[in-house]
Amino acid sequence: MKTRITELFGIEHPIIQGGMHYVGFAELAAAVSNAGGLGVITGLTQRTPEDLAKEIARCREMTDKPFGVNLTFLPAVNPPDYPGYLQAIIEGGVKIVETAGNNPQKWLPAMKEAGIKVIHKCTSVRHSLKAEQIGCDAVSVDGFECGGHPGEDDVPNFILLPRAGEELTIPFVASGGMADGRSLVAALAMGAEGMNMGTRFIATVEAPVHEHVKQAIVAASELDTRLVMRPLRNTERVLNNAGVERLLAKEKALGAAIKFEDIFPEVAGVYPKIMKEGDMDAGAWSCGMVAGLIHDVPTCKELIDRIMAEAHALIDQRLRGLLAA
Ligand SMILES: Cc1cc2nc3c(=O)[nH]c(=O)nc-3n(C[C@H](O)[C@H](O)[C@H](O)COP(=O)(O)O)c2cc1C
Repeated sequence: MKTRITELFGIEHPIIQGGMHYVGFAELAAAVSNAGGLGVITGLTQRTPEDLAKEIARCREMTDKPFGVNLTFLPAVNPPDYPGYLQAIIEGGVKIVETAGNNPQKWLPAMKEAGIKVIHKCTSVRHSLKAEQIGCDAVSVDGFECGGHPGEDDVPNFILLPRAGEELTIPFVASGGMADGRSLVAALAMGAEGMNMGTRFIATVEAPVHEHVKQAIVAASELDTRLVMRPLRNTERVLNNAGVERLLAKEKALGAAIKFEDIFPEVAGVYPKIMKEGDMDAGAWSCGMVAGLIHDVPTCKELIDRIMAEAHALIDQRLRGLLAA
């Protein structure tokens, strides 16, 4: 399957693995890229730019295919060493960066200079248009169903994707709620040039996370995620657990007066506890509603091959068959 996204990134299949905190290590990125998709290392999971440089080198040992690095720009009082991380990316010869969070404009000239293609993750049409306007090469359009931060507009992909298609000139991928060949074909029908998956890629053999996390995703239904931190305008979709219920009870009790400090125990330092130790009640960790569509733990190659076979069959048999009828 050839799309503007496969052409832009030099990949075989139009499937991207989105950056994921404490999940997007070299093992997963390499496995996705080796399977013909685009694997992405999560930059900020590495404690320092030096660690990121090592992670990029490790990934390169595991694959000779293109892979990317995610750089998430967070509003922070003490921001991470972004210039250092960017330098590690450039010196590591990485040619694809997935940006997310704040507007990446400030960092674009350095990336362009280094021949890096930039795909920015956006949760709205207006942010997507802004990304196009400032010179991003592509957009990952993240609908309300997504795991992680869906923004504050709450527009699901059945509306958001065709709206992005109406406005954008640069190519975009569908992100949020994508799991299988049906997702890919639907995304293409709505104007996307491929899809980005987060949650689905956690439940794979190569994802270097605790087995409890994979089993929690397989066991979860589409009803098991919750939105947290809405009162702080930092909404995150997470898998429900005892820590999340505690957090939601605090939100209810404190109302508009809530501060980040109030929920610190349920959100800070949770990822290593969940992803490494498998302590599934530790607190809030991102997970999409798409968990309801995830029933197994295949290898990345099995998953991507299955998606592509299913997509081909859907287009060639079911859809073409409908026309013939
Ligand atoms: C556990 C987890 C951690 C994530 N961490 C990040 C992150 O650090 N930066 C980022 O840009 N997106 C992050 N995301 C969002 C994903 O890259 C992707 O956009 C999202 O998962 C798509 O929705 P889906 O889970 O329905 O596939 C994370 C998602 C999950 C599930």
